[in-house]
Amino acid sequence: MASAIDWAALREAASGAASLAYAPYSGYPVGCAALVDDGRIVTGCNVENASYGVTLCAECAMIGQLHLGGGGRLVAFDCVDGAGRTITPCGRCRQLLFEAAAPGLVLNTPAGVRTIAEMLPDAFGPEALG
Ligand code: THU
Repeated sequence: MASAIDWAALREAASGAASLAYAPYSGYPVGCAALVDDGRIVTGCNVENASYGVTLCAECAMIGQLHLGGGGRLVAFDCVDGAGRTITPCGRCRQLLFEAAAPGLVLNTPAGVRTIAEMLPDAFGPEALG
């Protein structure tokens, strides 16, 4: 439930991840963190590449860490840039979060706390694949 979420801990973890970003091309470090339904916190930072289109968003690293650490479902998510501003995940990463979401996943956004359904309405999901 949203009231039980330690948003300050998520922000600290996301900021720590942003400090480890590899973003020499954009100069825009990003860090994110999420609470998993078993209580652990997973993090990610963006990792860029000289072939710009191959750049990995922070959320990609975080979802990899989710699975490497034993899987689970995301309950709450926070994302921050190198200046400490709250940012929203890009469209592709909303899809990544949707697939890993616990029911009612909430995201901290510049517009306040939003559910994944608000951030990605009418999402394409695995059920469509039959
Ligand atoms: N970026 C993320 O890591 N996550 C997002 O949701 C938005 C964008 C990164 C990708 C790129 O390294 C930099 O921000 C500038 O677009």
